[in-house]
Amino acid sequence: MLEIQDFRDFSIKNWYDNFKNVTLQTIILELPDQLLKRIQSDQIEDSDDENETNDEVPLEFIQEFKNALNTLGNNAFVKNNWHAPVDARMFSFGHLLKVVTLEDVITYFSSSGKIQDDFSNSKGVTFCLALRKWISIHPAAEFRCIVINNTLRGITPRDWPTFYAHFKEEGPHIIEELTKFYNDNIKIKFYRKNYIFDVVFQYPENPYIIDFESLNSKTNLYAFSWKEIQPLISKETPENIAPVFRYLENDVGIMTRADALSTFAKSHS
Ligand SMILES: Nc1ncnc2c1ncn2[C@@H]1O[C@H](COP(=O)(O)OP(=O)(O)OP(=O)(O)O)[C@@H](O)[C@H]1O
Ligand SMILES: [Mg+2]
Repeated sequence: MLEIQDFRDFSIKNWYDNFKNVTLQTIILELPDQLLKRIQSDQIEDSDDENETNDEVPLEFIQEFKNALNTLGNNAFVKNNWHAPVDARMFSFGHLLKVVTLEDVITYFSSSGKIQDDFSNSKGVTFCLALRKWISIHPAAEFRCIVINNTLRGITPRDWPTFYAHFKEEGPHIIEELTKFYNDNIKIKFYRKNYIFDVVFQYPENPYIIDFESLNSKTNLYAFSWKEIQPLISKETPENIAPVFRYLENDVGIMTRADALSTFAKSHS
């Protein structure tokens, strides 16, 4: 769960303007109370007719929503301030989580535990609907980057533990390009010293940011463990240190995350 300050700092509404030129085109709308109510009540039961008339979504919002979709090419990916309804993928056509109508948003948001948790746990934050341009992303192109004391220290594939043969050859480029990308576009500009950011990077194309996230014991660090990352936060960071890019080095068949971490530890001890 996020802390109160995290809810503020990691809301896309807070960071989007500063990173507009290095992230996906996004249109952020304020979520009307009526829509929030529908999303929360659809989760429990289908609202009856009477409720629906009371909870009618303002026409002005519906128009803003249509205009936004239109601007994005009539295909959008949707998030609230912090998360995407990835746990509701099975309710979407082809599991693609594409948004074409407002009903899609209601279905995904009301079926997603991640989204529902955010709405019940965050206090004092205005909820938003972030519509992002829908793009097809190759799983091997998604990386999570760990920043400690304003230095990029770790890079992990988000599709972990999956073996990708090209990581070995491209590894040095991935390290070099993502370090440069971080130093030129993110370092100091983001208001925290310790955090993670997600990128899409298909070498040799330019990387772009998908998201920022808090760094704590609950953060999914994929190939890294919190036990090895946590001590680095209180230690002084050596100057000019390069990040570690950790990926699965051998094709070992299907592995659980725990298997992969212990195999990695053994081969590096
Ligand atoms: N604009 C987009 N178009 C298509 N797919 C997308 C888009 N943005 C994200 N995705 C896919 O959805 C996944 C989840 O998106 P994202 O990382 O923004 O969600 P999240 O809720 O912040 O996830 P996490 O909790 O892991 O940080 C991404 O890994 C990517 O595969
Ligand atoms: Mg995220």
